[in-house]
Amino acid sequence: MADHDQAGHTGHTDQAGHTGQAGQAGHTGHAEQDGSGPEPLSYSKWARFYDEIIGDRSEELDRLHAYLSRYHPEASSVLELGCGTGAILSGLAYRYAITGVDRSPEMLEIAERKLPGGRLVRADITEVSLGERFDVVLCVFDTLNHLPSFTAWQAMFERVHEHLADGGLFVFDVNTVGRLRRLGMSTAYAEDFGEHMFTMTVRDDHDGLSDWEVRVFERQGDGSFTLHSEHIPELAVPLRQIRAALEPHFDVLEETGLHGEPGNDSSERVYYVCRHRQAVSTRRQPG
Ligand SMILES: C[S@@+](CC[C@H](N)C(=O)[O-])C[C@H]1O[C@@H](n2cnc3c(N)ncnc32)[C@H](O)[C@@H]1O
Repeated sequence: MADHDQAGHTGHTDQAGHTGQAGQAGHTGHAEQDGSGPEPLSYSKWARFYDEIIGDRSEELDRLHAYLSRYHPEASSVLELGCGTGAILSGLAYRYAITGVDRSPEMLEIAERKLPGGRLVRADITEVSLGERFDVVLCVFDTLNHLPSFTAWQAMFERVHEHLADGGLFVFDVNTVGRLRRLGMSTAYAEDFGEHMFTMTVRDDHDGLSDWEVRVFERQGDGSFTLHSEHIPELAVPLRQIRAALEPHFDVLEETGLHGEPGNDSSERVYYVCRHRQAVSTRRQPG
């Protein structure tokens, strides 16, 4: 999640690769439920407030446009893993064929309204398998940190390997170990938005894992407030470990902080731009 100090951040709905399945997951939008039981997935409650709370995304879009034009000017297709409400994809749709994957039906429902010509798939980004490749894969606004184990990060890198064309670009960002530690030691962040209020409390959990408690106080007509609260886990991983996990399939072109300086484990946020060496299906078989 995003730029708020304590806060991070935060088409049509495709019938999951037209086969009814996208990896282990179900479809998007109102279609199929994923059968995960009564426990709602994170973002179910604050999805409808998300865009208003996070606000203007033009700075991030400018950054992505700069990466794409510098490193892959001829790219024509973009896949965003963890696309949320489509805030980023809607700024790219004028130029690229876009596909978004997210596991939250509430976030996808909002994306669907913004992206009438786009393709949205409801799936887990560690398991998704769309059966096609893209010129660019994005995973931004600390979506990767939302995967609560490093094994899940590695599984997601394998999904990127599966979905990227030869020479394609993988662009992602992370909240660092240092940032999550600092947030865990600071006081809650609070902000008014419209007539409502939002608070974010980050608690240091254990082994790099933190718990982000998001609370939205929605003002009602009679002046009372309805509380919507949920918890989002974020895992921070040392940059050295991230680079080692990327090494088998990707060359790291940039590992930079907010202002283009070299990133490190104390940076607020680190942006990775990686070149895919070789796509899965074109790899030579040994012998
Ligand atoms: C911080 S939001 C970022 C959304 C969007 N990228 C943006 O920039 O606004 C993180 C998103 O990742 C999604 N997400 C988290 N874990 C996921 C998973 N394992 N599979 C699919 N989506 C996931 C959440 O549902 C949420 O929409």
